[in-house]
This record gives sequence, structure tokens and C-alpha cells, in this order.
Amino acid sequence: MNITEYIAHQQKRVETALDRWVSAESTDPATIHKAMRYSLFAGGKRIRPLLAIGAAEAVSDVPVGIESAACSLELIHTYSLIHDDLPALDNDDLRRGRPTCHKVFGDAMAILAGDALLTLAFEVLAKLEGVDAERRIALVAELATASGTVGGMIGGQVNDLEGEGKHPTVHLLESIHRAKTGALLRASVRMGGIYAGASTYQLHALTEYGEHIGLAFQIVDDILDVEQSSEALGKTAGKDAQQHKITFPAVYGLERSREMAENERLAAHIALNCFDERAERLKQLADLIVHRNA
Ligand code: IPE
Ligand code: IPE
Ligand code: MG
Ligand code: MG
Ligand code: MG
Repeated sequence: MNITEYIAHQQKRVETALDRWVSAESTDPATIHKAMRYSLFAGGKRIRPLLAIGAAEAVSDVPVGIESAACSLELIHTYSLIHDDLPALDNDDLRRGRPTCHKVFGDAMAILAGDALLTLAFEVLAKLEGVDAERRIALVAELATASGTVGGMIGGQVNDLEGEGKHPTVHLLESIHRAKTGALLRASVRMGGIYAGASTYQLHALTEYGEHIGLAFQIVDDILDVEQSSEALGKTAGKDAQQHKITFPAVYGLERSREMAENERLAAHIALNCFDERAERLKQLADLIVHRNA
């Protein structure tokens, strides 16, 4: 299987599992399930679940049921996007090529849809079959910390919002990016490893890989915001400069930002040196993260 086929195959596994976990649109109260599904099934890249599966495969041969654990990451991620787009945060009208959740369902329902996806993520982990309770708890802790306020997604979002219009320092820039985006990507890789029973040594290597691709991912997101069209991105381009966000291109310029993303990609490859060819997919995913166009 080449990487394109591999990704399509894994995305399908993830879509099927997500569809199983999220209540049908007709389930009462229907509005909330429509809003959740509207944002969830709008064609995201599913990078976080792919990383979790890739990491699990690097550790063990056939990690059965990993797609459910991987789903929890996509549920948190989609919730974070719905809330990120709200008028009180980035105030965006376009997401995954569609009008944002609050544009279609109103602010109140978009807030609740985010809340519901967040809650469901932990329900999924608590109900995982085929993994012992100890590992389920470790997965819950991992996802909660990565989504939280200290070095996690919410903490990063706070710094991102409070940084608007502030003088960008190198330190602030990196801490925003590591937290708002990097933490969940790092957790994706670690959760795959934990699920598959990684040794301390393997988990350490996966963590290092996750930190490099986590930072690279947001550097590239910042670059694409400058270079791409809204049509290509499926979200409003040029928003960061408009909102005076602290970004890599704003601090370092485009060319240096590209070099920095490339360095993170190479460092991510090196972090996987202790694995055999089973880590090949993770290397390819690092390449995809840095060389993507949207
Ligand atoms: C966008 O994430 C938001 C960030 C954290 C930078 P993705 O680029 O993974 O968005 P989707 O899931 O493919 O829509
Ligand atoms: C969002 O970062 C990170 C999240 C936690 C959702 P951005 O604000 O840069 O994401 P986009 O560019 O709107 O997707
Ligand atoms: Mg934002
Ligand atoms: Mg945004
Ligand atoms: Mg962005």
C-alpha cells in the first residue's frame, strides 16, 4: 500500500468508528446531533487519529480497536475548532469548506456541540474494549492534560487570544504553538503508543517525535494562512495578520519559517531511529504534515 492508499484506508476506519460513536441526527434532541455531525463529518484531514494509529503500528503488529481511541482525538479536535471559530474567539465564517457551526446553528448550539464532542471523547475512552483499565486511565489522563490549561490546548488558546496585538517574542510564540496545537498532536502519538503497550523507551521516542511534528504542524498552519487561498484551505485565509496574531511568519518571515518546519520534520525522523521499518508510516506522516497544502 502506498501512503495515499494507506491514509485513505485509515481515514475510512476512523470515519466508520466516529459514525458509530456519535448519535444519529434523528436522535432526540436532534439539533445538537445535527450540529455535532455537521462539523465532524465535513472532511477534516484526521491527522490526529492517523498519528495515533501510526504510533500504535510502530509498537505492535495489529493494534485491534485502536480506531476508537483515535476517534477521541478527533472529537476533541473538532470541538476545539468549533469553539475557535466562535465570534468571541477567532470569529470565523468558514471551516472545512463549509459555513462554521455557529453560522448554521447559532452560537448557543455551537457552544453546546463543542461541549458535547468534548464529553463524548472521554466517554469513548472510558468504554474502550480490549484494553485493560490501567491503560484506559492512562489514555484519559493523556487526553485531558493535552486539552487542558497548563501547557495544553486551552492554555494555548488563552495565550493566543491574549497575545493578539502584543509584541511577539520568540518565547511567547513557541509556547503558544506548543500548547494550542502541539500538545494534542504529541498526545495523539503517545496515546497510540500507550494503547499498543509501548515500553518507556519507545514512549520516550514517540514523545520526542510528537513534539517535533506538533510544532511543525502549527508553523505550517501559519504559513498556509499567509500563502494559500480560503478556497484551498476551506477556512478563511489571511486571518492571522488581520487579527494581529503571534505567528511564525510574523516573527521570522516566511522563508525562515519554512526552514524551521523542515528542521522539525528531520528531527522527527531522527527521533524514530530506535524503531524498525514499522515506524515508516510515522515518518511519512511527518513529511505530509510539513509538505501539505491545506
Ligand atoms: C487546524 O487543524 C487547526 C489547528 C490546530 C492548526 P487541521 O489542519 O488538522 O484541521 P482539519 O481537521 O484538517 O480540518
Ligand atoms: C487553532 O489555531 C488551534 C486550536 C486549538 C483550534 P488557529 O486559530 O490557527 O486554527 P485555524 O487556523 O483557525 O484552523
Ligand atoms: Mg485560533
Ligand atoms: Mg482560528
Ligand atoms: Mg491558523
